[in-house]
Amino acid sequence: MTHALSRSFSPLNLTALALLALVAGTVGCNGSNTGSGNDSGACSTDSYWTGGNEESELMNPGEACIACHSRGEGPTFTAAGTVMGDFADPNDCNGVDSVTVRLTDADGVVHEETTNSAGNFSFRQAIAMPYTAEIENTNGVSAMSGAQSDGDCASCHTAEGANGAPGRIVAP
Ligand code: HEC
Ligand code: HEC
Repeated sequence: MTHALSRSFSPLNLTALALLALVAGTVGCNGSNTGSGNDSGACSTDSYWTGGNEESELMNPGEACIACHSRGEGPTFTAAGTVMGDFADPNDCNGVDSVTVRLTDADGVVHEETTNSAGNFSFRQAIAMPYTAEIENTNGVSAMSGAQSDGDCASCHTAEGANGAPGRIVAP
């Protein structure tokens, strides 16, 4: 146990965490994001989820659904996330409804769901990893060019964008 623990908290990880804390702290001390002209913090739909962790398919738009549900509560999803109005939309900002989310899995099977009024979508069926993703509505199509093996879309599609993602999954 101790051995496994010390392996997962390697010096490299700790350095990365310390750096992140430093950056976050610096931004916090500035107290504002003015200057770069970004609107981070603003919710493009000006409509928010206010229900906390109350069980609902509309809950917590923008948050990592699977990371939280896998702690033991809520349904088991193989892929889930939120389609939003802007790349920098914050957590709990309602997204865009009636967007088709289409995943093509490693076996070539196509899985489709449509976003609800919070912009949320979720899949419960088995999805062979890796998958490719595209989203579509009456305005057009937007696709992810790379294939991914993690169905928790918001693990990368955060307001800031993690692991190379440009920010949120944004409706066409
Ligand atoms: C911070 C934790 C957390 C996050 C993030 C989260 N959920 Fe949940 N979710 C829960 C919990 C806890 C429950 C079960 C609540 C209960 O049983 O009272 C739940 C239940 C649900 C349910 C079942 C509702 C029902 O009526 O049975 C759905 C659907 C759901 N979540 C969808 C989502 C989606 C989609 C996302 C991501 C956009 C998400 N959740 C993000 C904690 C979370
Ligand atoms: C491991 C990180 C990661 C995960 C998980 C991930 N993406 Fe992405 N996504 C990216 C990256 C990086 C890009 C930009 C480069 C590209 O297109 O491959 C992107 C771009 C996109 C785009 C086009 C640009 C945008 O942000 O709107 C869509 C649509 C998209 N992803 C959908 C999804 C969906 C749906 C899921 C979950 C089922 C998902 N992604 C999960 C990393 C990820």
